[in-house]
Amino acid sequence: MHFNFRSLSLLIIVFFAVACKNDNKNYDVSARDQFIDSLMVQMTLREKIGQMNQYSVGAEMTGPNAATDHAERYQRFVNGEVGSVLNTLGAKDTRKLQQLVVENSRLGIPLIFAYDVIHGYKTIFPIPLAESASWDLEAIKLSARVAAKEASAAGIQWTFAPMVDISRDARWGRVMEGAGEDPYLGSEIARARILGFQGDDLSSLSTISACAKHFAGYGFGEAGKDYNSVTVGKNTLHNVILPPFAASVDAGVATFMNAFNDIDGVPSTANDYLLRNLLAKKWGFEGVVVSDWNSIGEMINHGTAVDKADAARQAVIAGSDIDMEADAYINHLEELVNSGSVSEGLIDEAVKEILSLKYELGLFEDPYRYCDEAREKELLGHDNHIKASREVATKSIVLLKNEGELLPLDNVRNLAVIGPLAKDKDSPLGNWRAAVPSGSAVSLYEGLQARFDDEINIQYAEGCKLSIGPNNFSQEVKIEEEDESGFAEAIRIAKNADVVLMVLGETAYMSGEARSRADIGLPGLQLDLLKAVHKVNKNVVLILMNGRPLAIPWEVENIPVIVEAWHLGSQAGHALADVLSGDINPSGKLTMSFPRHVGQMPLYYNHLNTGRPASDAVFYAHHMDVENSPLFPFGYGLSYTSFKYRNMMVTKEGGEVEVKVSVQNIGNRDGSEVVQLYIRDKVASISRPIKELKAFKKVPIKAGDTKEIAFTLRKEDFSFYDGNGDLVFEPGEFAIQIGPNSRDVITQSLIID
Ligand code: NOJ
Repeated sequence: MHFNFRSLSLLIIVFFAVACKNDNKNYDVSARDQFIDSLMVQMTLREKIGQMNQYSVGAEMTGPNAATDHAERYQRFVNGEVGSVLNTLGAKDTRKLQQLVVENSRLGIPLIFAYDVIHGYKTIFPIPLAESASWDLEAIKLSARVAAKEASAAGIQWTFAPMVDISRDARWGRVMEGAGEDPYLGSEIARARILGFQGDDLSSLSTISACAKHFAGYGFGEAGKDYNSVTVGKNTLHNVILPPFAASVDAGVATFMNAFNDIDGVPSTANDYLLRNLLAKKWGFEGVVVSDWNSIGEMINHGTAVDKADAARQAVIAGSDIDMEADAYINHLEELVNSGSVSEGLIDEAVKEILSLKYELGLFEDPYRYCDEAREKELLGHDNHIKASREVATKSIVLLKNEGELLPLDNVRNLAVIGPLAKDKDSPLGNWRAAVPSGSAVSLYEGLQARFDDEINIQYAEGCKLSIGPNNFSQEVKIEEEDESGFAEAIRIAKNADVVLMVLGETAYMSGEARSRADIGLPGLQLDLLKAVHKVNKNVVLILMNGRPLAIPWEVENIPVIVEAWHLGSQAGHALADVLSGDINPSGKLTMSFPRHVGQMPLYYNHLNTGRPASDAVFYAHHMDVENSPLFPFGYGLSYTSFKYRNMMVTKEGGEVEVKVSVQNIGNRDGSEVVQLYIRDKVASISRPIKELKAFKKVPIKAGDTKEIAFTLRKEDFSFYDGNGDLVFEPGEFAIQIGPNSRDVITQSLIID
């Protein structure tokens, strides 16, 4: 029977008419299964494999854009040999491509449109690392919710986010895309982002399916080099890397993406243990697993596959359902099934998952439901979204130092604003900016002008350039600069200023995929410029815009005030002006340790004690030439007010532990504090970290007020994963530590049995 979309829609009307809610899905699962079974019996093997094939189709195209075999790829769409695409932008283009497939292919099965909607679609929010510094799960959820609203209005149903890779190495450029170094916080943030993207109903027009990536270990590449080999033991794998992925499954994430890297020689794309044993069997994940871009093909380079056919065989057997851009499945799976190397049952399993996702998204009901140009026009860049972006950005800013209380800028008359990023309207957008035009962020300079108008006399000098090659995969990113001719003007305006704002850091494309750096200081001439300005005016506020922790020891020792402003998105300048002016009191806290020196990498607070615990004495774990501690520890961040912790109380109640602490705002401004609770398992069968974050609360506290903060810890919080990924509890002594960051804690110990 010819089964085009018209006959499909009749069938679907019948099924939807009988649909009713059941426990874990808000649609009738047996109706879905019946529908998919009746569709699959009509599909040829090639059509099934087509569903497992994903191509990139550039925004400007209304059809396939593979430079090489355009005609062949086009024909594949027409034949129903492509199941999903990435990189198509806009309701109009997605409709055209959808139409091509639905109207021409034999069964008219709609495509899914995917995109890397990482921190906003048209309205750009702070980069994920910055957002994580808000420690505000509602704000993070809101950011994902807005991104989903805009993306879905532009024809997208699937984002390749959140990236839930834990990383301890700031040299890795993709730390900008994650939630930092901690598995507990990373898990909470993964949940918030997934709920934000997906809501509780994937068929809603304003939600999109999320994707937990990169499964697994991608954040642990040796030397912080992107795509590099990963060597981790079972303890790190199960207790650090995997928890955010497990939390993603728990949160109902629709899809997973595997990773480019190998772990101990096994490419993640064909890691049977990770994909089949853990993800599918142990965690019960039933959704779609997509490969990373050509990661199936790259198994040839890994030296674990002879050719693409061999790579396809291994990947499908391990459990990769969709081949992104390798052409390995569509070119080889049919033959592999026919020759008996791959069972058709495996193909059926994968296809069923893919079709289920399409069903859930409502694509069988109406393949064009996300392609509404009027809705797109109304929603993209909506005022409410802009407002939300500014709000989340203010929450992501971290005040690192405020000696002499130069901030907020209360009594300033003459302000010098200096640095290559001060007027930059592009870098604040960060890497991964989806549909927003380059250069469209509010710069800090614009933000200051809008906020202070005539109140303050603002002078500007660029000081030096921060050069970067075009964002093009074939061209190098260049960050050296030699021209000091702008220094003189910077020095001149600095001399006459009450306060100098130095706006320095990294451009948008100095972090992100493929942007690993071996030197993580301020790039180019910026440190020289800073020193030159500091010589003539000590009242310097250093505003850092960057996508990773930086090694800035001179700056921290010499510059009185430092603000970590990351890449804050479309509203960056306004958000920064909100905080610099004191209209908003900063409340962000770091989610990655800042090193003194790049040689400390990997650097993280939750390390093991070792047999020779960190000390600066000779035969202990340390470097001869740099202190053991970070410049700023995990969880660190200041406010324009101060908080005092007292009266910590720990009590056992049945099987639970109650922890209470009083936190007083002892300054004269209202503020918010992130109260952090860590534990230490003193003795266990495997060595446990010296501190592990187990709970936190972000609480607003009015000037002078005291709040009692209470936490409840359960047995799971005192447990850890063994080498099989099973949670085990070992009774004994535990330290409970509470404080404003991972360093400055008050501690009480207790026995838990
Ligand atoms: C490669 C990246 O690793 C992945 O995160 C991304 O989703 C794909 N490219 C698609 O753009």
